[in-house]
Amino acid sequence: MSNLKIHHIGYLVKKIEKARLSFQALGYETEQDIVYDDIRKVNICFLVKDGYRIELVSPVSEDSVVAGLIKKYKNCPYHICYETGDYETAHSELTAGGFIAIDTPTPAPALENRKVVFLTSPVTGMIELILPD
Ligand code: NI
Repeated sequence: MSNLKIHHIGYLVKKIEKARLSFQALGYETEQDIVYDDIRKVNICFLVKDGYRIELVSPVSEDSVVAGLIKKYKNCPYHICYETGDYETAHSELTAGGFIAIDTPTPAPALENRKVVFLTSPVTGMIELILPD
């Protein structure tokens, strides 16, 4: 997995503006203002602190991809996102490592429409992978 680089930690929040203020109190700065992802029906905001990037993800409707997750987990970190420059290799190494894709590569409006895919493993939970441009 040497070609994977951590891009952000995804953080589920019910109220994105209030969450942003709370993270600001911790010293985070807004890297990218709130963007609506119409494919996943979520609002997304990127914050940074000390070189760490956090993605606030908040469902905007009942058919949001995270509507079920937020009921179960409330406000909490729920995925780590990795960037890869070599999707074929990353995909085969992750598959060998027990990860299974739970969707197909789909553009992410909050990431300049770069394609992302979510995978999960029974022992580590969900990760996100950003494909090369
Ligand atoms: Ni993410």
